[in-house]
Formats: sequence, C-alpha cells, structure tokens
Amino acid sequence: MNTSLEGRMALVTGASGGLGVAFARELARGGCHLVLVARSDAPMQQLASELRSLGVVVHVRPTDLADATARQTLAASLAAEGVAVDVLVNNAGFGVFGAFATTDWSRLEAMLALDVVALSHLTRLFLPAMRERGFGRVLQVASTAAFQPTPGYAAYAAAKSYVLAFSHALDVELRGSGVRCTVVSPGVTDTGFFEVSGQRATWYQQWTRMQAPAVARRGVEAMLAGRSGTVTGWANALLAHSTRLLPRRLSARVAGWLMRN
Ligand SMILES: NC(=O)c1ccc[n+]([C@@H]2O[C@H](COP(=O)([O-])OP(=O)(O)OC[C@H]3O[C@@H](n4cnc5c(N)ncnc54)[C@H](OP(=O)(O)O)[C@@H]3O)[C@@H](O)[C@H]2O)c1
Repeated sequence: MNTSLEGRMALVTGASGGLGVAFARELARGGCHLVLVARSDAPMQQLASELRSLGVVVHVRPTDLADATARQTLAASLAAEGVAVDVLVNNAGFGVFGAFATTDWSRLEAMLALDVVALSHLTRLFLPAMRERGFGRVLQVASTAAFQPTPGYAAYAAAKSYVLAFSHALDVELRGSGVRCTVVSPGVTDTGFFEVSGQRATWYQQWTRMQAPAVARRGVEAMLAGRSGTVTGWANALLAHSTRLLPRRLSARVAGWLMRN
C-alpha cells in the first residue's frame, strides 16, 4: 500500500520543536495540510509561515496536551470548524532520566500523562471520525527504549513499551476499516530531548545519533507504505530486535550499561 497524503489534513503534536517540526515539514512537502499542536505558540507560528509558502493550509493550536479538558476542547473546536483530521501524528512526549526512587514524582506523572494518557486519548478522540470516513492514518512515536527495560529511563521506557504494544494491537483491530496505525521507534535523535530528560548523551548515544529530518522521513515512509512499525537506523534496528532474544533481566543490564556515562 502506498497512499499519497496530498490534500489530506494532518495533526502533528509536539510541533514546536525537534521531531514534530520535522514531521510537519515532511508532511507539508507531500502536500498535506496541517494542524500544529504544542504549548509554545511562537515557534509554531514561525513554522506555519514557512509551510504556508509551500501552498498548504496550516492551523496553529497552542495546547497543553497533558490536560484532558484541553485535549477534548482541541478535538471539539476542530470538528466545529469543519477541520477533519485524516492523519494523526502523536509525537509530543518527553523522557525523565535518573533513578526512579529519587526522581521527582510530579515530573514522572507529567511524563506519563503526556506519553501514555494523552497519546491514547487523542487516538481515541480522532479515530471514530476516521473510521466513519473510511480513511485515516495514525503515526505513533515510540522509541528504541520500548524494546527492553531501560535502567535510568525505567518509567519512560515502559511508557514507550506501552505505545509500541498499543499501536501494533490497534493496527490489527483496524484492519479492513481504511484506517491504519504505524508506530515509529526512533533511537537517539538530535532534538531538545536530552535537555529535557536531563541526561548527558553517552558514547553509544552519540555514535548512533540521527538527525530529525531523516527520522521523520522514515516514519512517514513507513506510514505511507502501510507498515505497522519501523525502527529508524540500522544500528537501532539491530539492537532493538536482537535484544528480544535475551532474557529480560539480561537485556535490562545491557541497556543499563549503555546508558552509563
Ligand atoms: N530525540 C530522541 O532521542 C528521541 C528518541 C526516541 C523517541 N523520541 C520521542 O520523540 C518525540 C518527540 O521528542 P523530541 O525528540 O522531538 O523532543 P523535543 O525536541 O523536546 O520536543 C518535544 C515536543 O513535545 C512538546 N510537548 C512537551 N510537553 C507538551 C505538552 N504538555 N503538551 C503539548 N506538547 C508538549 C514540546 O513542545 P512545547 O514545550 O512547546 O509544549 C515539543 O514540541 C517524543 O515522543 C520522544 O519521546 C525522541
């Protein structure tokens, strides 16, 4: 399956920086109209001006996606304006690095609210209309951290395991509906992620680091090809898939070693 998204409307979360900007640019290049969502208005307005020059329609919706009411208001206001979302890119997310036992709970709770709850809720909010129209694409952003327990990122990696398992199951549930779900698992990507997570990149992370435009391109290509999942970069794919052969206890130890500075 290779579906053009030209003229479709894509909603990209986390579109004020990093991978979200790269997803928005990639989709706009393919002729997609866009709804940009994140908390910071100014960078999204700047991106919107850039993308409008490509001839696509761009809506900007500053929203705190950790807030359930704000998510509902976002979906309801788009529906009221007749903006039908054909493509949902659930990209907004962040990680918290450090020993779980001593990490500030409010940061962990905010992370789970965004990475797990908001992603699930947005999917639930936009899926019914996609199914009714008989067309839709959902692109979920997981991580290579999803493939094994990861000391230092214990809760973040588990949250991304949720995204991975949820998305593959959902794609099977959606068979025959005209709606598909693709999950992209990036490895280390050059964005604001590490500044937010508080981790200094290790030798391994520096070695495997990719640029956001390449990661976004692979994610969009996988979605267009109707694939249910993809890991970006050969080294990332090799590690993500080989770790499945190890007992969990051992793969957790290897991941912990790779996270060490
Ligand atoms: N970079 C990596 O190495 C890497 C690797 C694997 C997976 N990922 C995943 O890739 C996705 C994108 O992250 P990134 O690397 O691009 O990091 P980033 O540069 O820090 O971007 C994160 C985006 O999420 C938005 N965001 C954060 N909290 C939000 C909230 N409460 N409501 C709405 N938007 C919110 C941020 O915008 P505002 O602050 O303006 O709200 C920003 O646009 C995340 O899901 C991350 O887990 C990243």
